[in-house]
Amino acid sequence: MQMLDDHVVLILGGGSGLGLGIARHFLGEGARVAILEISENKLTDLATEFGDDVLLVQGDVTRIEDLEAARTAVLERFGRIDALIGAQGIFDGNIPLRDIPTEQIEKVFDEVLHVDVLGYILAARVFVDELEKTDGAIVFTSSTAAYAADGGGLFYTAAKGAVRSVINQLAFEFAPKVRVNGVAPSGIAGSQLQGPRALGLENNKQSDIPVEDFTNQFLSLTLTPTLPTPEEYAPLYAYLASRHNTTMTGQTIIADQGLFNRAVISNGVADRVGQ
Ligand SMILES: NC(=O)c1ccc[n+]([C@@H]2O[C@H](COP(=O)([O-])OP(=O)(O)OC[C@H]3O[C@@H](n4cnc5c(N)ncnc54)[C@H](O)[C@@H]3O)[C@@H](O)[C@H]2O)c1
Repeated sequence: MQMLDDHVVLILGGGSGLGLGIARHFLGEGARVAILEISENKLTDLATEFGDDVLLVQGDVTRIEDLEAARTAVLERFGRIDALIGAQGIFDGNIPLRDIPTEQIEKVFDEVLHVDVLGYILAARVFVDELEKTDGAIVFTSSTAAYAADGGGLFYTAAKGAVRSVINQLAFEFAPKVRVNGVAPSGIAGSQLQGPRALGLENNKQSDIPVEDFTNQFLSLTLTPTLPTPEEYAPLYAYLASRHNTTMTGQTIIADQGLFNRAVISNGVADRVGQ
């Protein structure tokens, strides 16, 4: 018996990084998996990797009609849905507010919060009735940025804080049938998180930062010895998505590698592993 036997799961933003790692892990746990992804190029790669094993839907989480089309496709293929995973996101480029031209502020706000907050809200609205039929689950992705400064710029931080609050409220509204929880990762190895078009940063990705620099910075703050891969975060999502979770709703698990368990004086693990 595997964790996700008999579970049909839709992953939003499963084209790379965290969502892709979740998809791979969920398949290994017996789930039937669908992915909604905006990028045509990533969908081509997914088709090569998964063939017919995964239902692939091209769409934008900020468009209600794309989410409704995904719902139709999932129900036509699998007849039900047991879990909705929100793993989509974009970054704000970590630009300080004072460096953003005033005329761009509203555009950056709209772009980042549409994908990172509205997309989660729309998806919850589109899928709640079907999830209610299966006593299903929603698992959304926040970030350590929701809890402390310097996990992103202002807009990303605001968005991830909002996701955390959305989880609280939806757990209340969707009880008792649908459990709503979240995961707040810190760093993710191999992330392709993109910046906003409104700042001309849509081609800037987190993966452009040299891996060694990013890892060293990360290990100077954390207590576990590696920058986690998407697959290392995925079991948390599997548990929260599964019917094994009968005890939690409205919670966000902070998967921070010990980051917040520091009142920083020394260089921590970076010293111990000789970085
Ligand atoms: N990278 C990190 O260090 C980190 C840390 C904490 C939390 N997160 C969060 O984890 C989640 C996954 O990010 P990732 O780091 O794996 O980045 P990623 O870019 O590799 O994955 C995000 C996916 O979402 C897709 N996407 C973007 N906009 C979309 C839209 N409008 N509609 C549908 N799909 C869309 C992207 O194409 C991409 O495939 C995000 O919510 C991110 O904020 C990332």
